[in-house]
Amino acid sequence: MPALVIVGAQWGDEGKGKIVHYLSRGADFVVRYQGGNNAGHTVVFDGKKFALHLIPSGILFPGVHNVIGNGLVVSPKAFRDEVLMLQKRGVRSRGRLHLSLAAHVILPYHIYLDTLREEGGRGIGTTKKGIGPCYEDKVARIGIRVCDYLEPETFRALVTQNLNVRAAELSRIKPVKAIAEEVFKDYDELRKFLAPFACDTSELLAKARGAAKNLLLESAQGAMLDLDFGTYPFVTSSNPIAGGACVGSGIPPQAISRVMGVTKAYTTRVGLGPFPTEIDGKVATYIREKGGEYGTTTGRPRRIGWLDLPQLRSAIRFSGIDSLVMTKLDTLSNIHPIKVCTAYRYKGKKLTSFPVSRRAQLEVEPVYESFPGFSGDLSGVRKFSDLPSTARHYVEQVERLAGIPVSIVSVGQSREQTIVRDARTVWA
Ligand code: IMP
Repeated sequence: MPALVIVGAQWGDEGKGKIVHYLSRGADFVVRYQGGNNAGHTVVFDGKKFALHLIPSGILFPGVHNVIGNGLVVSPKAFRDEVLMLQKRGVRSRGRLHLSLAAHVILPYHIYLDTLREEGGRGIGTTKKGIGPCYEDKVARIGIRVCDYLEPETFRALVTQNLNVRAAELSRIKPVKAIAEEVFKDYDELRKFLAPFACDTSELLAKARGAAKNLLLESAQGAMLDLDFGTYPFVTSSNPIAGGACVGSGIPPQAISRVMGVTKAYTTRVGLGPFPTEIDGKVATYIREKGGEYGTTTGRPRRIGWLDLPQLRSAIRFSGIDSLVMTKLDTLSNIHPIKVCTAYRYKGKKLTSFPVSRRAQLEVEPVYESFPGFSGDLSGVRKFSDLPSTARHYVEQVERLAGIPVSIVSVGQSREQTIVRDARTVWA
């Protein structure tokens, strides 16, 4: 009855969606534990491309149950639209998509507040989906949970109270009365739509554990966007690290049997904030175009950099990652040489992990080691031994520098383009 946690080991967009989807076949339950529709998972299934933002990619396998845990912030409209999008493409969610009664709801005013802050000089490059303001309400103990949303009187009272609290700020966008009308406009329809999906997911998962089911818990975003351990304040407002899996789903720590971290063969980040190994110029453009490095949620071009071992080592420590999944190795083909940051120099000292201070995060100088590149199209390779020797060497050097194994290598978006080096990490 393993509970496997899959975390992003960088700044998000590592390709978790594909890996979760790959491992979903052997799972009984796939659980999202934090974030909201700020995430973007692109999954190719039966030759069809799906962009999922909120619903776990396990939904694409008919027998798998999917949970949106209490740790999420859920826009009822985004939830409905994603369920309908799947339905239109032949994927049924009813009966196997479970929404926590304790998750918080994102309402239009959260999106307005997010936009106001982003455009008012305090921006960090958010996705403008209302994520931060909704979590602020949760922490301020004025948030509205799914269980409140489903009770019209409670909902009305809470919305009125919250719009009063935020009135001064919101009136800079439009009259609060107009915002209230917007909140209530589709409310009845959305409430009825959500109701059959909502339940006590913590209890559901406890029963699943009792029945020896396989659980796969997936983070959105990545370690360096973690509210506590990331590049604060350029972070998201929840905890993608493995500890967040317990808080955001209700399963206890001792239930977690394994943690896998997903990293690209290089690094990307969207939004503002420190990025020690960022590069510009021809190599960055090549990687961005070849790797399709544009945000799934916002379409923004991603910032590009070399693989950063001090950053990765910290991510391994934050989550207790047992093994790595390296994605997009194929994208590095034809780059000679490939550089990897093995340490930072800061104020005359050598650092081997990511510093906490925001100043140090900005000022560290990467120390690089170069490895011979490889050429050709790797996307058809299915066995590690069939990779060019320099590609294998690259993966092995990353293992050595990170101190843990790379158990899966991904060379393309589709399920088949996956090289499993250690079958123990795959349960089907
Ligand atoms: P928020 O989550 O929309 O509040 O944005 C906070 C930070 O997290 C910004 O830098 C976003 O670009 C980043 N972010 C949020 N979701 C993702 C994601 O799924 N992938 C990569 N970056 C993300």
